Amino acid sequence: MSNLYSPSIEAQATELLSKMTLNEKLGQLSQVSGRGAQIPSELADGIRQGRVSSVLNEVDLDIVNELQRIAVEESRLGIPLLIGRDVIHGFKTIFPIPLGQAATWSPDIVEKGARVAALESARVGVNWTFAPMIDIARDPRWGRIAESLGEDPFLCGQLGEAMVKGFQTDDLSSVGSIASCAKHFVGYGASESGRDYNTANIPENELRNVYLPPFHVAAKAGAASFMASFSDLNGVPASGNQWLMKQVLREEWQYQGFVVSDWDSIKDLQVHGLSASQKDSAYLAAKAGVDMEMVSTCYIDNLGELIASKQIDEIEVDTMVLNILKAKYALGLFVNPFTDPSSLPDALNSNHLEDAKEAAQKSCVLLQNNNHILPISKQATKRIAVLGPMANDGYEQLGTWIFDGEEKDSVTCLDGLRALAGDNIEIDFMPVLANSRDHDTQHFDKALDLTNSADIAILFLGEESILSGEAHSRSNIDLPGAQAKLIEHLYASSTPIVLVILAGRPLTIQPILNKVDSILYAWHPGTMGGPAIAELLFGDACPSGKLPVSFPRVVGQIPIYYAQKNTGRPAAEHSYVYMDDVPQRAAQTSLGMASTHLDTHFTPLYPFGFGMSYANFAYEQVEISSQSIKIGETFKVSLRLENHSNIDAEEVVQLYVRDLVGSVTRPVKQLKGFKRVHVKAHSQEHISFEMHTDDLAFYDIRNQLNVEAGDFMLGVGSDSSVELTLAFTLTN
Ligand code: NOJ
Repeated sequence: MSNLYSPSIEAQATELLSKMTLNEKLGQLSQVSGRGAQIPSELADGIRQGRVSSVLNEVDLDIVNELQRIAVEESRLGIPLLIGRDVIHGFKTIFPIPLGQAATWSPDIVEKGARVAALESARVGVNWTFAPMIDIARDPRWGRIAESLGEDPFLCGQLGEAMVKGFQTDDLSSVGSIASCAKHFVGYGASESGRDYNTANIPENELRNVYLPPFHVAAKAGAASFMASFSDLNGVPASGNQWLMKQVLREEWQYQGFVVSDWDSIKDLQVHGLSASQKDSAYLAAKAGVDMEMVSTCYIDNLGELIASKQIDEIEVDTMVLNILKAKYALGLFVNPFTDPSSLPDALNSNHLEDAKEAAQKSCVLLQNNNHILPISKQATKRIAVLGPMANDGYEQLGTWIFDGEEKDSVTCLDGLRALAGDNIEIDFMPVLANSRDHDTQHFDKALDLTNSADIAILFLGEESILSGEAHSRSNIDLPGAQAKLIEHLYASSTPIVLVILAGRPLTIQPILNKVDSILYAWHPGTMGGPAIAELLFGDACPSGKLPVSFPRVVGQIPIYYAQKNTGRPAAEHSYVYMDDVPQRAAQTSLGMASTHLDTHFTPLYPFGFGMSYANFAYEQVEISSQSIKIGETFKVSLRLENHSNIDAEEVVQLYVRDLVGSVTRPVKQLKGFKRVHVKAHSQEHISFEMHTDDLAFYDIRNQLNVEAGDFMLGVGSDSSVELTLAFTLTN
């Protein structure tokens, strides 16, 4: 890894360290929570005494500047503060939830989103965000899937890197750059049963091949900090996991940023049962290499004693302090810790809103479009029924983690439709249900009347923001409340129905698929969701989002992800027998004997990478430059993408590979490349992927990163169900 910090930063930090008392050093390891509108005297005193390194959740500009003033003018060494905040998908201008941003499959869009978030949050003095979250998420019950970039290590790594760049730029010290934090290191997304904070048991080989790669990418991209996960990883909670932090992160990856705990996660080591006291917790976390403690006070209360009793060497604490000081120097805080918002663009300016609209638009995934009901013709339509609790709720479209986003700034779907429909189309609106969980069916008949009298009905259903995110996991991921019943009720009408789903996770929508004509999955699209969606519905823009996560048919299929192993008895169409077709008293071994459930098909409802378009794309002449490639060489995959429609549109071209035989079994498919491409109506684009055999490396049976010679299959297409038809061989 290249050096994160220049020699001059190293030197300045080391020089400062040499002047610090032990108490001041321990202070640099301590992050405290802000209190909003005022500065409590104990916080001011703590800063004066050098006992506070960072404040989180303080976003009042004057207060932040005053906190920095106290730190630099009234503490002995004048060390500025890190001001941390969860700026996860926007600050004032809210972009789609990260899972939605991942559905754009566009590093450019994701980078822009992070840039806007950085610029807007820097206006109030935030200099450190707790993002990107790059936990691989394969369980939609887990509420935090909303904050994730989906199920795939490659996609997640590429988009995570884009976020790091967007937050930090190339120069952390420039105005409007803020430090990023790759979280939650590691395995948090594998929490058992999708229950938040739960245990993760992940074999080392899977950790290295699936869960760690996005973090390695973020480390290489220069993410200034990492956050330890709350969760237990193979018996040792991450915040006390030496193997993870010391061996993998520091030794193998040579990571030079700093590591922060999660909120109270050092203290929680005792709750996990890894330590018997807060002192033990401090000892374990410090030994593991967690540099800064978020909120709890195990370090500041105990590290002094642990050093005195020689359990911890002061040199270990010095290393932790240096890691943090270097970030403060790199951010330019020693030169100027104060914020002058006039040096930054206004929050919610028209460029930011335009970027948020583009992100929302390109995140929407068209899942179904029977009889080409979409786009809605403005000429042929006189009356539209807009129904559902998510249609005109500026708050609920924002999604989880919007500490600073405000409902008043949202443009709702109803607003968006009304603005585009013009005077010729009449729009009747009814929320029908008070919110997504409402069970009250009293307005259903009225909704049916409105539907019957309209040319088309657009139903905005889904999940309120609070149903996903931290600590908001669900065991059942159907449409909540009476929403499915509402669809059933409206099915009686002959009016075509378009369903737009706003949600923080994949929902199990199989039961309602044949009750609606079209389905647009819009995630929680953020401030500009309304105009973005309205343009898609009216055909002013063409859907181009692709699923960053597989959609299960039923909850019992979870985990279901495309990069599964083949198993010794893979499921196959020819041998699959559905439960209702099993002959009574069938002999034990008379059926398929394959890895399936009897009561649901073995494929997902929608595969990873899936998303329809109004255009019609064809993949032609998919070719590989050589069928036999020497390890160490590059090769090229090329194709022609044809747009056989009369609309300009974007397509996300996806390249998948299968390594047929490995020293450890390999997934049936792995994403190895993708490109979002614009193709004009009735025209074509030539696309190529420059590949290197290193792209096919994996952690082998010895858990070493290695490229193994052998046979591979490759395919390029519009989603992960593409057939892999090109064979090639890697040779030594
Ligand atoms: C707990 C969450 O797990 C983490 O993601 C977040 O950054 C911190 N709290 C700070 O709010």
